[in-house]
Amino acid sequence: MNKICQHPFKTIQIQNTGEVYCCCCYWTDFYSFGNIFDQSFDEIWNGEKAKEFRRQFIENNFKYCKTDVCDPAYDDIDPKLTVAYPIRIEFSYDRHCNVRCIFCRHEKNKEEEEYNRNKEKRIEENFDRIFTPVIQHAELIELNSAGELFASKHSIEIVKKIININPQIKFRIISNGILFTKKISQELGLEDRLSSAIISIHASTEKTYNKLVERGNFKAVMENVKYLSELKKSGKLETLQLNFVVTSINYKEMIDFVKFAKKMHARAFFINYHRQIDSDKLETELDISLTSHPKYNELVKILSNPIFNNEYCIVNDYLKSLKPIKLSFLDKIQRLFKK
Ligand SMILES: C[S@@+](CC[C@H](N)C(=O)[O-])C[C@H]1O[C@@H](n2cnc3c(N)ncnc32)[C@H](O)[C@@H]1O
Ligand code: SF4
Ligand code: SF4
Repeated sequence: MNKICQHPFKTIQIQNTGEVYCCCCYWTDFYSFGNIFDQSFDEIWNGEKAKEFRRQFIENNFKYCKTDVCDPAYDDIDPKLTVAYPIRIEFSYDRHCNVRCIFCRHEKNKEEEEYNRNKEKRIEENFDRIFTPVIQHAELIELNSAGELFASKHSIEIVKKIININPQIKFRIISNGILFTKKISQELGLEDRLSSAIISIHASTEKTYNKLVERGNFKAVMENVKYLSELKKSGKLETLQLNFVVTSINYKEMIDFVKFAKKMHARAFFINYHRQIDSDKLETELDISLTSHPKYNELVKILSNPIFNNEYCIVNDYLKSLKPIKLSFLDKIQRLFKK
């Protein structure tokens, strides 16, 4: 049997346009298997476009995949295996959020919100008809890698509908942690159905957190992480992961963050900052992983600490690949002035 990325065989990601992808739409350059508003699910999952994608995989040809940026789920899979329905479903289009992290968002755009709201309404109205058979066969639902689940009426409604259709379902939830309280988790029936909780915090101190997360609430996040940590300790939660997007503002807190994760029975996950906002100045200042950044070598030195090799810590491949750079005397002077 081959080790092969299982997403095309087991996963779907749904966008609010109705387009269905097998993983993050950016990773496959928007290679859509079909549209749930225009086709039956069977036509999409077993259609020509899905078959062509899988055929390329079986031949070890990743022509539709951006393998330099994606996060494959490798497993021993018989490539001839046909799975009647996907096992994992990702809803990752809802951009509602209660905060603004400076590396993620602009201020709100009314037109974009209106556009998205209309698309969400269409999903809500057609949800049972379209998704009942798919959700009945699924094992894991992932919400919401585009915005904040607990700040969105739409996503909360989707969670309720999913549990109603398939009470055995498990969830993988990614959240900023502010509203992920014991109360909401129990009220929604999530507590007994959590497989993974991924909480993005990016700092070990409130001061640094406040510089990165506008309108955030560090104390509430700490409280909720403690609750999730208890669930992890009791065995109810399989995975607790604490995310940290590395920037020039927070890199000095990475080591303490690993210690905090260990204390919480969690694993720390460090991701490099992907440029996605249009202020060049802010990006250049934040992106400490650029060799041109004056503090680049300091980051590399921190990353060489053996604490990052522990099993309760994951550093993404890009950060792992960073090597110190040699600086000329002139470079050093210029960097001193930039600091
Ligand atoms: C877009 S958020 C959505 C889920 C939730 N609101 C949260 O913050 O975890 C998903 C993940 O992307 C990360 N992220 C956001 N902007 C990023 C950027 N510019 N570079 C790298 N990761 C980023 C977040 O920190 C978070 O871990
Ligand atoms: S190899 Fe990457 S892009 Fe291709 S299906 Fe897997 S995760 Fe998606
Ligand atoms: S909480 Fe998540 S979605 Fe909201 S701004 Fe921060 S990273 Fe983006």
